Amino acid sequence: MMVGLLLAMAIAAPPAKGDVRSVLRRSGCQTCHDSALSVEHTDALEQFDLKDPKWSDGMTDRQLPILLQRMGDRPKADLAVVRSFIDTELRTRRTKRASSPPPASSGTQ
Ligand code: HEC
Repeated sequence: MMVGLLLAMAIAAPPAKGDVRSVLRRSGCQTCHDSALSVEHTDALEQFDLKDPKWSDGMTDRQLPILLQRMGDRPKADLAVVRSFIDTELRTRRTKRASSPPPASSGTQ
């Protein structure tokens, strides 16, 4: 009953980017993916940097689902926040692309 309610709430209100950030920050990702804490992990920061409020903008559609994979074995609630964020982000990107198609004369495929 409670779980169903939480699930319904999670679906109704996709988490803001900030919530995912705080989940990732307390899931161990911050040691490499947060330049506010450390700038030495340049390879990791190139993928995303949690210091940036728009940290996920530079990530590709392929990379977003990997966030969840790298979470590994974390509390269900944390995984749900990340999963819901990825779903929402991918859906938003698809909608944006659909509403602004590339110019028809953009050459070969
Ligand atoms: C010990 C340092 C370190 C930690 C901790 C770390 N990462 Fe990374 N991460 C990297 C490095 C280095 C790369 C780039 C090379 C690679 O793909 O592994 C990377 C790449 C990634 C990518 C892009 C993968 C791709 O194929 O493009 C994602 C997504 C990612 N990390 C998510 C996470 C998440 C989520 C966490 C926390 C649960 C995390 N990382 C924790 C170092 C780290």
